[in-house]
Order: sequence, then structure tokens, then C-alpha cells
Amino acid sequence: MIVTIDRALDAGQVAQLRAHLHTAGDAWVDGRATAGYQGAPVKFNRQIDEGSQAAARCQAIVLGALERHPLFISAALPNAVYPPMFNRYSEGMTFGAHVDGAVRIDPRTGHKLRADISATLFLSDPEDYDGGELEVMDTYGLHSIRLRAGDLLIYPAASLHQVTPITRGERLGCFFWVQSLVRDDGRRSLLFEMDTALQQLNRTGADEEARRTLVGCYHNLLRQWAEV
Ligand code: NI
Repeated sequence: MIVTIDRALDAGQVAQLRAHLHTAGDAWVDGRATAGYQGAPVKFNRQIDEGSQAAARCQAIVLGALERHPLFISAALPNAVYPPMFNRYSEGMTFGAHVDGAVRIDPRTGHKLRADISATLFLSDPEDYDGGELEVMDTYGLHSIRLRAGDLLIYPAASLHQVTPITRGERLGCFFWVQSLVRDDGRRSLLFEMDTALQQLNRTGADEEARRTLVGCYHNLLRQWAEV
């Protein structure tokens, strides 16, 4: 399931992030610092050192916004979120086709996190660069995605994906992984569709007893499938 979360961050939060990133100086390092043996040969970008102050400031902004975001919670059912990372693609930079590693180690806690969902938060507007599409390949084919600054894309971490070369300008982004309460993408999609439909029924004031039964079904499915 690929879900776009419009305005995951508002314009003020995006501006704050950009200001931190533009003044991060030496905290920008080679993106290959955190790539595995599959990703390293195809990864050409810069990213913020995970241990830097700039990273900590930016992570707080992103996590603060997401933990209150109902659509993100409904779609991802987060159990643990890897500390967000930040990258920059200038002209000629690219990240070739790869699948993200299955297990990440949280650098702050040493805890392992299973990457069920990959997330990309766009921090540059599409008119600020050419190229730099995020291309995700799933069972329905290839999806080519460029979103507005502040929009978030979540997609199955099992997908093959790439960032095409930048031909003009600069593309700033944030990326991270989520260990979901529900590991299976198909089950998670069903729960998301059900929750979305329930929200709609709530807004339209549909039959209360039927809604109560459906909410019960939602929670009882989640109870069967959740791993905590
Ligand atoms: Ni990736």
C-alpha cells in the first residue's frame, strides 16, 4: 500500500527544517555512511550525520508532527519509528534501484527495528528541481512520485525503489522507517480502508449501532494481528 499524506508538516515546520539543514555545515556527510552492501554502490547523495545536533533538532520537528497526525497513525499503525534522517541531492546525484534493509539498529538506543514501512518526507517543492523522482515498484507496476514540500509518502519497505538523477536544482528530503504494529502490508491496508470508511460514517452520522459493531470489528481484527 502506497499512501500520500498531504501536509504532514505545515509550511512553518518545513521552513524550520530547511533553515537547520542549510546551516548544518560539517554535519553533511557522504550518504554511503549508512548504506548496506547493496545500496552503497548505487547511492550518490549527501546526508546529515545521525549523531549531529542538526539531526537531533530536525528529528524533533518531524517526530513531533507525526505523532499527532491521525492519517499517519491510521495508515502506518506505528509501533516504533526510526529516528528520521535527512538527505540532499544536488545536480547529478541519484540513488539507484535497491530494497531497504529489513532490520535497522536505532543508533540512540541500540534497539533493533524491523522496517515494515519506508517513508519519504519531501522538503523541496517540485518546481525547485528537475529529475529526482522517487520511483517505487510494487505489484501494480512503477509509481513515479514528486510531492510538495511537507507531504509524506509511505510505502512497503519491501518495494524496489530508486531516486532518479537530479538534472537541475536541489532536492532536500527526510526519510525513515516504521516498524508497524501490523507487519503484513495486506492486513494493514485492510485496516486502513476500514478505519477510513468508519471515519466517513462518523462524519455522516450513520446508524450508531452498526457503527459500534464495525468499530468493534476493527479493534478485534487489530487485536488478532497486532504485535507489540
Ligand atoms: Ni531506500
